[in-house]
Amino acid sequence: DWNASEMLEEAFEMVREIGDKKVLCAFSGGVDSLVAATLSERILGKNLHCFFVDNGLLRIQDYNHIQKLKRETNLNIEIVDAKDDFLNALKSVDEPEQKRKIIGRMFIEIFEKKVHEYEKNHKIHFEYLLQGTLYPDVIESSPHINGGKSVTIKSHHNVGGLPERMKLKLLEPLRHLFKDEVREMGLSLGLKRDWVYRHPFPGPGLGVRILGAIEPEAIRMVQESDQILFEELIEAKLYQSTWQAFTVFLPIKTVGVKGDGRAYEHVICLRMVNSSDGMTANWSHFPHEFLETVSRRITNEVKGITRVVYDITSKPPGTIEWE
Ligand code: XMP
Repeated sequence: DWNASEMLEEAFEMVREIGDKKVLCAFSGGVDSLVAATLSERILGKNLHCFFVDNGLLRIQDYNHIQKLKRETNLNIEIVDAKDDFLNALKSVDEPEQKRKIIGRMFIEIFEKKVHEYEKNHKIHFEYLLQGTLYPDVIESSPHINGGKSVTIKSHHNVGGLPERMKLKLLEPLRHLFKDEVREMGLSLGLKRDWVYRHPFPGPGLGVRILGAIEPEAIRMVQESDQILFEELIEAKLYQSTWQAFTVFLPIKTVGVKGDGRAYEHVICLRMVNSSDGMTANWSHFPHEFLETVSRRITNEVKGITRVVYDITSKPPGTIEWE
């Protein structure tokens, strides 16, 4: 019988085994890294150091979330501002897989550099890397189970290659758990329901929600429109009825009227889907009044947007993200 307290005890045991060592965590604030860090902190205390890399491709809700976690948890969170580095590395890059590769590579480079600086300045040495790897990730990366074959539709690497390169041992206290068990564990550790039931957010972030080359203005438009959608979902109590809900910036211009004049501006697309694992998905049928409120707010409040469209494609054939 595998109940919540046994799951937690097993996870604590994995953390206890490493003893009095310094542990590093690539912390995103997502459910997995948050639960892994929270339970580890109970055993490791100040030996756990969480590094949050700000790649400049985060949503307003992510910036608010990380500040809240800094204030309201015992986690020792170090924020690394790497916005300019990412933006420079991505300059003029418009091909989706290329963007993913650059974002993944930059993450590793910057993380490694900042951690080495931190070790030097604080005269400490990290031996372990804490990761929120779940059971399905363990299975997926086992060549025995998938026959050594893998088909890449989109490369979903986030921190791949980090442990080998930095010569760190891995600590993966969630490696026997499924997502719903991790959420349950988060609640039993006293984490807020909102924190444990956040939608998934891809590693490359808004980088794959801005079609084509990433410009600061496009980042602003997708951030502001995403925040409006998020606020309205919470207000209408619809957040938990979707798997993911976000906005996509389309780098095309259309004609419209704003104020007393002609406008020739960009388009925001609303993407809301229902899914149980992200492998297949249905577009979410939202109430028309809700869509109208969101559309009106986006065109009124986001400078540069005159048109809002609604994606009614399920997966397959359309992937959840647009890139
Ligand atoms: P797609 O777009 O492939 O997305 O239907 C399926 C799920 O995976 C997420 N996704 C990613 N997650 N790195 C990630 O960590 C990525 O590069 C990536 N691409 C897609 C997507 O948000 C959805 O939940």
